[in-house]
Amino acid sequence: MNSLSDIKNYKTLAVMGGTFDPIHYGHLVAAETVRQELNIEHVLFIPSGRPPHKQKTRVAGDEHRYLMTVLATANNPYFDVSRMEIDRPGMTYTIDTIKEIRSQCSEDCKLYFITGADAAAEIISWKDPHELVKLCQIVAVTRPGYDKSKIFYELRKAGISPYSFTFLEVPALSISSTDIRNRVSVGKTIRYLLPESVEQYINKLKLYNYQHYWETEPMITEINKKLHYMLSPKRFVHTQGVADESVKLAKIHGADEKKAYLAGLLHDCAKDFSSKEKLKMCDKYGIELDEILVNQSDLTHAFLGAELARDMFGVTDEEVLGAIRYHTTGKPDMTKLEKIVYLADFFEPSRQYFDGIKEIKQYAYEDLDTAVAFSLDHTIEYNRSKNRLIHPLSLQALEYYKGSLPKK
Ligand SMILES: [Fe+2]
Ligand SMILES: [Fe+2]
Repeated sequence: MNSLSDIKNYKTLAVMGGTFDPIHYGHLVAAETVRQELNIEHVLFIPSGRPPHKQKTRVAGDEHRYLMTVLATANNPYFDVSRMEIDRPGMTYTIDTIKEIRSQCSEDCKLYFITGADAAAEIISWKDPHELVKLCQIVAVTRPGYDKSKIFYELRKAGISPYSFTFLEVPALSISSTDIRNRVSVGKTIRYLLPESVEQYINKLKLYNYQHYWETEPMITEINKKLHYMLSPKRFVHTQGVADESVKLAKIHGADEKKAYLAGLLHDCAKDFSSKEKLKMCDKYGIELDEILVNQSDLTHAFLGAELARDMFGVTDEEVLGAIRYHTTGKPDMTKLEKIVYLADFFEPSRQYFDGIKEIKQYAYEDLDTAVAFSLDHTIEYNRSKNRLIHPLSLQALEYYKGSLPKK
């Protein structure tokens, strides 16, 4: 089938839904097995759009998932790919997809919907499940030995006949897209898990090339999306740099890397609000405004950042919130994480050069207290030269850490 216009000629057609992020041999073997076992003329792969029931993150963009599916299926004349779901605006429901296909096939065409057994077990929570099973036969592909009793129980409870389902065991189903993404992110081979063309596509475009496993977690994806709106492009790049540098320092000094990443990412989340907005938010969050904060409202962004991290971004970890709260002023007796974010902010790669940056970085990699003492001393001196008021927390911090100042 070269286009959906051929669809009306089929007497049997299977729809293979999935995120295909990325598509792998498990999907392909499942589709081919179903096609052969059930004597189906053609299989239409439909990369998913925005399904409401699936909270899983889709890591690669829609176009990448579509193209990888095209590449993977190109050499099988019985396979085809449809953009139907990724081009449909809003939420995508399987029932709408099946109805759309149904409206294009001949009336006597038998339609199948192939899905994984885990997804099939959730079918009763999908939109219009009773109508769905009337419009198509569900083919649930399972790993060998899969316990189907849970699905039967759920179906019977919902008043759906288990005969609307066909179960097929497919050994290659132990391959998983999540595993492939994780393997790429840590530089492990993915050869023989998916077609070579898809592997090359992933390598060429550096898909899934994340340094850390948490970078693909829904919470981090959401944070990045929000930060995109809240920060200038330059500041956004800066926060990514601070997050990465914080992770490096956490690794060196034995702190929690994920917390360091999160704190680095969010440390400046309140920075790009106007002075007026900042002062208004201080009022909302009960941040006491002394003379210094009123005159240098920019200093409030760290205290506000911690409040926003909790309120807007759902961060509850006090260590992370502390690292955001004190990243500008510092304070006496800082936690390891507070020191790390305070320091990473000075020398992340996109930071403009200033006198002392090299030393701060060098000290930070060797000894956090020396680096903190040096940075505090340096910053206080610089701000005094600009006739700026110094926040008492910074003065107290220098007093606390001055014993760690490098010998001149
Ligand atoms: Fe900042
Ligand atoms: Fe910053």
